[in-house]
Amino acid sequence: MVPIDMPRLTVTHEGLVQRPVDALVIGLYSDRKPSGAAEAFDQASGGLLSQLLDAKELTGKRYETTLLLAPPGVRARCVLVVGLGPRDELDSAVAFRAASAAVRTLGARPRTQVAFDLAGGWSEEQMEAGVCGSLVGGTGSDLYRAQKKRTPPAELLWSGIPSEVAQRGQTVARAVNLARRLVDEPPSELYPERFAAIAQHVAESCGLACDVWDVPRLEAERCGALLAVGRGSARPPRLVILRYWGGAPDEAPLALVGKGVTFDSGGLSLKPTDGMKTMKCDMAGAAAVLAALQAIAQLRLPLNVIGLCGLVENMVSGSSYKLGDVLRARSGKTIEVLNTDAEGRLVLADVLDVARQDQPSRIVDLATLTGACVVALGTDVAGLMTNNPPFGTQVQQAAQTAGEAVWPLPMFPQFSEQLQSDVADLKNVGEGRWGGAILAAKFLEEFVGSTPWVHLDIAGPAFLESAKPWLDAGGTGFGVRTLVELARRLPG
Ligand code: BES
Ligand code: ZN
Ligand code: ZN
Repeated sequence: MVPIDMPRLTVTHEGLVQRPVDALVIGLYSDRKPSGAAEAFDQASGGLLSQLLDAKELTGKRYETTLLLAPPGVRARCVLVVGLGPRDELDSAVAFRAASAAVRTLGARPRTQVAFDLAGGWSEEQMEAGVCGSLVGGTGSDLYRAQKKRTPPAELLWSGIPSEVAQRGQTVARAVNLARRLVDEPPSELYPERFAAIAQHVAESCGLACDVWDVPRLEAERCGALLAVGRGSARPPRLVILRYWGGAPDEAPLALVGKGVTFDSGGLSLKPTDGMKTMKCDMAGAAAVLAALQAIAQLRLPLNVIGLCGLVENMVSGSSYKLGDVLRARSGKTIEVLNTDAEGRLVLADVLDVARQDQPSRIVDLATLTGACVVALGTDVAGLMTNNPPFGTQVQQAAQTAGEAVWPLPMFPQFSEQLQSDVADLKNVGEGRWGGAILAAKFLEEFVGSTPWVHLDIAGPAFLESAKPWLDAGGTGFGVRTLVELARRLPG
């Protein structure tokens, strides 16, 4: 895998309006009153912003970017005005996206130095999110194009940000870009063994312990559900276990579990072309877990974390698992397979059981698990399901601070009735298609025992089918920022 290109980051306490840079980024709120650096630029340029505001060329609408070439009164070669929306609605999500949109626009040309002066009045969380966004938006998803659509600037200069805050933003950005890259790589390049090799490389470079279970080990561990899903593929499955011990030696770890289906054809319950064409994204949960562990280790957070990535390719062949098969999961529960496209829950059934072996204090799993979750919440919001509502609230608050949207779905007990099978302990799908996201979560709940557990269904936000102003089409790195923020808040 080619290294991920990211700009160099420098912070300064000086205002940047008079710096001789390639581009200066300033922010404008939708109240259309230039403040901070925008006001300083307006004065220096003899009222250019005010004129453009009067002419309604500038609105301050969120993520609107307007490039002013050769502006008067400053030494920057161009000024980019980015819309920040309503002043009192600025949060981490807006800060991230505005900075990301600015650098994405500027990335259309190679640039050496881009200066950001828009964080006046921002909280530290918002500053960190802004720095993070500015290091993410310039990295494109056109990995295999000879003519890149975008090049990140060589250097970013941020004004008015404490250097530890900037550094945190940079560490998290590196992780978000890693998760994005893993999702963007085509399935021909990224299959279970490759993912595991990359995980080992990441672990070595940031001091994580890393165990990889191959097929004989998975067999010895009786991971019958995960192995069944992987059986139809020429690419054998793997389970990656990462360990970070930043807390007391005997403190119970936080367990992070990721669905890592490196390609989901649906198996014998084959997906149609339209549903299959983005299924390289079906390992986004595992990518977020690996990336979050990298960031947690680099930030030296004072807690213990284990990360588990269940890696399989769901394919069609003479050895594929079949409808009617009964699998024995690692926990001992038997599962009747009635749809081979509901494979993520089978993989996670075993991985959650392995996670429990380390007696974690809490488990969070991330999975591109159901299309039903996308129907329920749209493409921007992850579904949150839990067996422990206070822990669910904690995760939701971490997501809010990090600038990622998650929303709870209810876990009513009556859903479980649909999972009763006549021949086995459970079946892997219900009768109809309603409430599919919750049903999948109820299935997973069977494998977590009494450990406080949160399931994030990221099928919607993990992958952008078309570009947004702040990000290219492709992997988004969703979940990384939430997991890192959660790890910062725990234990407690
Ligand atoms: N990987 C898919 C879910 C998915 C859909 C992820 C859209 C990202 C975008 C999952 O394995 C799947 O196919 N789920 C089935 C479950 C059904 C058979 C009960 C689905 O959602 O249709
Ligand atoms: Zn599937
Ligand atoms: Zn899947």
